Amino acid sequence: MTLRVNDLKVYYQTLRGDVHALDGVTFDLADGEIMGLAGESGCGKTTLGKSLIRLDSRMRHVGGTIDLDGKDVPIADDDAMVPLRYHEISLIPQYAMSALNPTRKIGRMINELLRSRGVRPADISQELTRRLELVGLDADVLNRFPIELSGGMKQRVVMVMATLLNPSLLIADEVTSALDVSTQRSVAESLVEFRDREYVKSMVFVTHDISLVYQMADTIMVMYAGRIAEKAPAKTIINAPRHPYTQMLISALPEVGSTMEQGRLEGIPGTPPGLLNPPTGCRFKDRCPMAFSKCSEQPPLLEIEPGHWAACWKTG
Ligand SMILES: Nc1ncnc2c1ncn2[C@@H]1O[C@H](COP(=O)(O)OP(=O)(O)OP(=O)(O)O)[C@@H](O)[C@H]1O
Ligand code: SF4
Ligand SMILES: [Mg+2]
Repeated sequence: MTLRVNDLKVYYQTLRGDVHALDGVTFDLADGEIMGLAGESGCGKTTLGKSLIRLDSRMRHVGGTIDLDGKDVPIADDDAMVPLRYHEISLIPQYAMSALNPTRKIGRMINELLRSRGVRPADISQELTRRLELVGLDADVLNRFPIELSGGMKQRVVMVMATLLNPSLLIADEVTSALDVSTQRSVAESLVEFRDREYVKSMVFVTHDISLVYQMADTIMVMYAGRIAEKAPAKTIINAPRHPYTQMLISALPEVGSTMEQGRLEGIPGTPPGLLNPPTGCRFKDRCPMAFSKCSEQPPLLEIEPGHWAACWKTG
């Protein structure tokens, strides 16, 4: 097992109170697993990715544990997290490619990153060239500024940077969202190739795009309002989802495997509850066509068949 997250609670402190962005998140990631992480905007996907790498000043670890390769990940202790970053866990943040420093050439940026991680750039330069070639980039990109590269090229650079030290876990947060359809597909294929070559052991691929994730991921986990709704093999989520929220998401897709644009998560009536004072019970109950009296209690996340978890009183 690469990753084991147990009852993780991470809140944002705001002047109006705590935003319960992750409120009891539990899941495992097997060695070699690529897990797609889906759910509507604001459900906590980015917060989950960030929590595994670095809590920013407003984020508070309220409870729960994270194990990576059998060792505790001390997310509340920023200093203790330093050796893990890039070496063990790496994150391609949402909007990473637009955050590249415009005044630095790509090569210099990579060298600075390596030195800050205690690695001599010269020791890794051959491997760097090899990996750039693997994602279709000439080593010449190292001499260019970010502004001289297309979106797809920048995204590939960011992917190579994030995985250069062969982390156990890679979190890729919406890495394909800003790209055109054919580039999206090739970026996703490169990430699968990175896993196949064991540059990364396991991956969390955050996306709004269920049809893209269906093609590349082994499993899909669906979040709703700071909690896990369902996790199962990708085929099961698409063909036989059990949680009413997942069922609505999937039935809102015109045809899985059709175009990317059609596969986005939209079209469910209503909005998720606010996370400042989240409601008690099942957080989906106001939108759920199957809600009944029991739903005023929080449904536990249960393994309803091997490898298939759901949190709903109707699936238990
Ligand atoms: N810095 C912050 N301060 C307060 N609340 C925040 C902060 N960042 C995120 N949140 C809240 O935490 C919840 C989860 O946000 P998060 O960014 O993790 O969602 P997401 O699933 O990644 O959404 P998207 O699909 O839009 O990227 C939301 O309710 C959001 O409003
Ligand atoms: S627990 Fe109740 S409200 Fe929640 S998804 Fe299941 S049936 Fe719907
Ligand atoms: Mg996000």
